[in-house]
Amino acid sequence: MANKNQGAEPRRQRVVRKRRSPHQSAHRARARHAVKPPPPAPVAPFNPFLAFPPAPPPQEDPRALEPREVMFGGQPHVLRPLGPADEARLISFFNSHTGETIRQRYGYQISEMTPERARRLVGVDQLRDVALGVFERAPDGEQVLHAVGRYLLDATGKSAEAAFVVRENKRGLGICTALLRALLQVARTRGMSFLGAQVQADNAPMLGIFRRHGGRVKPIPGADAMEVFVPTAPP
Ligand SMILES: CC(C)(COP(=O)(O)OP(=O)(O)OC[C@H]1O[C@@H](n2cnc3c(N)ncnc32)[C@H](O)[C@@H]1OP(=O)(O)O)[C@@H](O)C(=O)NCCC(=O)NCCS
Repeated sequence: MANKNQGAEPRRQRVVRKRRSPHQSAHRARARHAVKPPPPAPVAPFNPFLAFPPAPPPQEDPRALEPREVMFGGQPHVLRPLGPADEARLISFFNSHTGETIRQRYGYQISEMTPERARRLVGVDQLRDVALGVFERAPDGEQVLHAVGRYLLDATGKSAEAAFVVRENKRGLGICTALLRALLQVARTRGMSFLGAQVQADNAPMLGIFRRHGGRVKPIPGADAMEVFVPTAPP
């Protein structure tokens, strides 16, 4: 039997178009007429002077810098301002630092604490800048310096940069925390609403301490370091 389709044109393949659901069509129509959303507003750079509540007007509190006894690791220590008599103690403390401690503290290597530098660092005007030490009395009666926390006012006198260093075998006892709190207290009585600091990006303990005190951390572009702003009022 002859094929009745013989000679006939090949059947056109039926193109099956997927039908759009009413929801899809409405969506496309809306998209065609939708007004493009405006580009995101530029984010204002972080301003620590606006970010934290202002401190009350300056009112020097003489007790803030009085020596006080504090227990660390079950042992009595004295937290007090550094003074000219501490020059040799500071040099001896510096000579105990490992290279890693110096890198974390200064951000670069310093090989020597010269007497001139030590004299400057212990002889700061404590009514302007603040330099505190934590000392322990050795069996021979000598005071051994185990930690320093300081802040240095900037040229405007409105903000200050803080830095800390604690002897390697005295870490994790809360010494830095006590020094930071003491500095924040003095800064507040002097009318500052925050302290700033520069911290190496890999310095987890220091960043952790600042964050626990309400610190705001932002990376410094092009450097392996962070800028931190810590409010002088407890968060
Ligand atoms: C950073 C430094 C000052 C901290 O001193 P410290 O006296 O040991 O600090 P504290 O004991 O007050 O607090 C340490 C805290 O860090 C935490 N910590 C320790 N190692 C940590 C880590 N790897 N990651 C996160 N947190 C860590 C501890 O648990 C502790 O928290 P806690 O109080 O809740 O227990 C000290 O490690 C130091 O001298 N480092 C070298 C110099 C330096 O980094 N200076 C900072 C430049 S601004």
